[in-house]
Amino acid sequence: MKVVYPGSFDPITLGHIDIIKRIAKKFDEVIILVANNEAKKTQFSVDQRIEFIEETLKECDVQGNIFVKKHNGLLVDFVRENNADFIIRGLRRANDFDIEYDMARLNKHIAGVETLMVAADPKFTHIASSYVKEIAKFGGDISEMVSTCVANKLKKHFNL
Ligand code: PNS
Repeated sequence: MKVVYPGSFDPITLGHIDIIKRIAKKFDEVIILVANNEAKKTQFSVDQRIEFIEETLKECDVQGNIFVKKHNGLLVDFVRENNADFIIRGLRRANDFDIEYDMARLNKHIAGVETLMVAADPKFTHIASSYVKEIAKFGGDISEMVSTCVANKLKKHFNL
């Protein structure tokens, strides 16, 4: 079975990597889909985010049945065009659930596409790309939240 793990990944964190490692063991193919959503202001371009993901996968030795792609438009269109079986979303805490439940229901409603939700490991539930960027911007330590290559790229980006 093939699954799509979509997100902004602005940037990818070790929490995302944990979910990717776990789902890659359960499914034949995992597509990490970087959403190119113009309505959402991101710190990094879609191509930079893809580069961060590819380097992080190499650094963390997570390779094989995992592919990284980008998409502009509805997630369900990508899922159907690629004959994927499920969307995967990680859940960190209870208040993620309301948003994820609505998205899952909407994607099912408009296209019949099912979503599977994966509970984040407690080690990573406090980590979010937005916090990582804020901590990095002010010179804080993000070394246990992102890969070394992402930490270095953030340092460079924020001129630290
Ligand atoms: O990492 P994020 O920002 O929580 O990911 C959100 C994402 C990219 C999964 C969501 O915004 C999305 O699916 N965007 C693609 C456009 C789309 O299909 N929107 C309708 C979703 S109900």
